[in-house]
Order: sequence, then structure tokens, then C-alpha cells
Amino acid sequence: MTTATVGKHVEQGPEPTGEPLLRVEGLTVRYGLATALRDLDLVLYPGVALAVLGVNGAGKSTLARVLSGLVPATAGKISFDGQDITGWSAHRIRKAGLVYLPEGRGVFPSLTVTENLRLAAGVLRNRSDRVAAVGRALDIFPSLKARSGNQAAMLSGGEQQMLSLARALTTSPKLIIADEMSLGLAPKMVDVVFETLETMKQNGATIILIEQFANRALSFAEQCALLQRGHLSWHGDSKAATNEVIAGYLGDSVATGV
Ligand SMILES: Nc1ncnc2c1ncn2[C@@H]1O[C@H](COP(=O)(O)OP(=O)(O)OP(=O)(O)O)[C@@H](O)[C@H]1O
Ligand SMILES: [Mg+2]
Repeated sequence: MTTATVGKHVEQGPEPTGEPLLRVEGLTVRYGLATALRDLDLVLYPGVALAVLGVNGAGKSTLARVLSGLVPATAGKISFDGQDITGWSAHRIRKAGLVYLPEGRGVFPSLTVTENLRLAAGVLRNRSDRVAAVGRALDIFPSLKARSGNQAAMLSGGEQQMLSLARALTTSPKLIIADEMSLGLAPKMVDVVFETLETMKQNGATIILIEQFANRALSFAEQCALLQRGHLSWHGDSKAATNEVIAGYLGDSVATGV
């Protein structure tokens, strides 16, 4: 087992031009006395995918939750698409184009596939836009279309994950935060998840991919951030995030995982 290295290291590639889509400054989240995220700085440019890696309890989901307005920031500032969104409600943040796909599917099990999609499309103002968005999402996933009247609870794990992605697609989000989407899925379904995320990326979405295991995420994302006990210990180009680097910071289990 390799000893984890503490301390911040920034491996910078060429600085992209234009305005960042996301800028996080000094972000801290505490749950009671426990600090889950400490003094985090991060800049993400449009169209760039970022893999966030870390062991259990490192603060990955907390980062996703605070960015999407589900937990309050104890300190710090979050700017998204030119606006200061710190303290905004989850609904308002989603409407602004930041969509969080939570761990463990994030679908409503007792609702049908179509009802799940309608709810997700609910942030769109016009009824006709909402209907079109649900239709579009179903067209992308023929296997969901075939089960559109079924309760989400009746879908397989992989199909529920597809539904979660389809929900995100209804609103053409600017930033998608996908939290361990491949967890517990068969390899074939993991392929489907990554292919769908790739399509969203091609369509211009910026993606933050949260994973406990490195390889797949790193081949998908251009940038990588390593989280360690709530602290951003390394951030840079995915190509520079070799197994040795990741093992040095996070240990062998993250570096060699699928
Ligand atoms: N609602 C909560 N109340 C109190 N502590 C929490 C809460 N949610 C998370 N924590 C703690 O905050 C820390 C970070 O948790 P978080 O869920 O962000 O980690 P993670 O990196 O997503 O882990 P995993 O890989 O297991 O999903 C952990 O120590 C966790 O126990
Ligand atoms: Mg998590």
C-alpha cells in the first residue's frame, strides 16, 4: 500500500480562453462538527469533462451536493455560467442548467418511466417544450420507450441508470454532475452509461464525473481532480494522472480499479 500524499498539487495544461462555466472559491462544507469539504478551489471551462476521484468518504458526493444546492456551503463561493449561485435553491440551480445525477439512481421508483421524465422536464416553462423533451429523451433510449408505462422500480439497475440519464437529457443541461453512475452495473451497462455521457459531451455539455475507480473516468475526462478527506490534493490534465500519481495520493485501490 502506498502512503497517501497530503498537500495541493496543480498540474496545469494550457489555460483555456474565455469565461469558465464553473468557478469554486474557498468552498467549505460542514455537517455539524465534521468538515466534509475544506477550502476547495476549482475552475472548469465549458466543454471540458472533469473526473473527480477519491476513496469512500473523501467528500465527492458532498461536492456534488453543494454545487447543486442540496447542502449549504459553510464558507466559500460558487459561480456558474456567470452568476453567483451560492445559497440558491436546488430547483433554481437546476433551472439555470446544472443537473446532478445522484448516487443510487435518482429516480422515483413508484412513478412510471414517463412520469419520471415529466417531472424532470418540469423546469421547462412551456407545456409543448416539456412534451417534446420527454419524447426526445425516450427516442434516445428505445429500451426505456418500450417500458414507458412501467414503474421505475420494475426496471433493472442499468435501466434505472439510463432513466436517470434520460431525466438529465430532458433539459439540455450546461453542466452534468454524474455521481458514481457505473457503480454496481454490468460491464455492458457501464458501456451504455459512458456512451450516453459521451453523446451529451459531444452536444456541448460540461461533465463532472465522480468515480471511486480511475481508469474509465480518466479515459473519458480531459481533467482530473483528486479529493482526499475533503481536500483537493491534485488537479490537472488526465494524461498526467498516471496510476503512480493516483496511487501516491489515494492508494492502489483507486488507481487500479476498473
Ligand atoms: N448528511 C451527512 N451528515 C453528516 N455527515 C455526512 C453526511 N453526508 C456525508 N457525511 C460525511 O462527510 C464525509 C464525506 O462524505 P461523502 O458522501 O461526500 O463522501 P464520498 O466521497 O461521496 O464517499 P462514497 O465514495 O462513499 O460515496 C464522510 O465522512 C461522511 O461520513
Ligand atoms: Mg459518494
